[in-house]
Amino acid sequence: MATLTAVKQFSDRINRIEVSATMAVVAEAAKLKAAGADLVEFGAGEPHFSTPQHIKDAAIAAIQHDFTRYTPVPGIPELRAALVKRHAADFGSDYKPEEAIASTGGKLALFNALQVLVDHGDEVILPVPYWVSFKDIIEYAGGRCVYVETDESAGFRLTPEMIEQKITPRTRAIILNTPNNPSGAVMSPEDFKSILRLAHKRGIYVIADECYVYLNYSGRPFSAGSFADVREHVVICGSLSKTYAMTGWRLGFALAPAPLAAAMSKLQSQSTSSTAHMIQKAAVAALTDSQQCVADMKAEYIQLRDQTLAALAKIPGITCVRPEGAFYVYPNVSAYFGKSGIKSAADVAKRLLHEAHVVTVPGEAFGTREHIRLSYATSSGEIARGLERMRTWFSAL
Ligand SMILES: Cc1ncc(COP(=O)(O)O)c(C=O)c1O
Repeated sequence: MATLTAVKQFSDRINRIEVSATMAVVAEAAKLKAAGADLVEFGAGEPHFSTPQHIKDAAIAAIQHDFTRYTPVPGIPELRAALVKRHAADFGSDYKPEEAIASTGGKLALFNALQVLVDHGDEVILPVPYWVSFKDIIEYAGGRCVYVETDESAGFRLTPEMIEQKITPRTRAIILNTPNNPSGAVMSPEDFKSILRLAHKRGIYVIADECYVYLNYSGRPFSAGSFADVREHVVICGSLSKTYAMTGWRLGFALAPAPLAAAMSKLQSQSTSSTAHMIQKAAVAALTDSQQCVADMKAEYIQLRDQTLAALAKIPGITCVRPEGAFYVYPNVSAYFGKSGIKSAADVAKRLLHEAHVVTVPGEAFGTREHIRLSYATSSGEIARGLERMRTWFSAL
């Protein structure tokens, strides 16, 4: 006779997390597209540019020359050297090649850092709005997210005082993501430095997500690596995805003090091992050849941002903080709550998708309730088309 003991299907760990909300939106949009809908896509967070030709050429040459084998887990020496040299030239950091690890995307670098640092019950301070994956990566590691709400009327500014209030004896790490996804907010170098110092003094790690560090429109870009006195408690997680329009290549990296870098490499040795050999060779080309492509893309993003903000300003009731980095706008749509049955940002995004065929991501995915996120990494024509659809749709509510 069969026993009635409940059969546990999957681990507790996997049940703690959800599918990335941005990926979910992309999947829903893809279904509509497959059914023939003509969508305007502001959903996915990725450059619309092609990967620059010299980077593609380097990958093709690498394949032709048989750079197709396993490599050391943290990357080939040439790549580790190129990562630290580029970072030193751009930000004045002083990492050694053995403190650099290449990973299969910046997301894996963040995942590795949090797995290595966080134990069950440890607290990780996470400023809101946050990039969708942080919450789940922290929880998967067994950590507890301690949220710090930022104020939209202050441009989503994050101050050292706000962080300090949330520190407890269980605080293990603080996440800083500047320029920020989804708000596009850029921290002031002074606030940034003060948070690094206060964390360092208390032995708390700062995980600096610098995925958009080259897309800072507010002045001279800066990095956590620019402040040598705090390096002992800093992990920089970076990526070539946005900087060089290489999202699908999966090349991210971490820069961290040698013992931490070694622990992250140990973890990676038991999961993905290295990222692909030819991709590493292409990354060396990206990091060591001319950086003009980065400047050109940045100049175009600034124009697209300005076009998007100007078009949003024509929709009555919508307000939007001027983003100073990344390629997102994060408008507040709460003026429309209560109209035509709309109760939330999720309702706005859903109905925009199905009724106006415009893809956006609801703010709930990023920890706020009144916003939707639009990625303006698309053509000027698509921005004009999508924002006109939005204006018509909102006006009819
Ligand atoms: C804030 C932030 N961090 C990290 C990543 C990870 O990027 P990737 O894994 O492509 O390097 C993303 C991607 O959207 C992001 O927006």
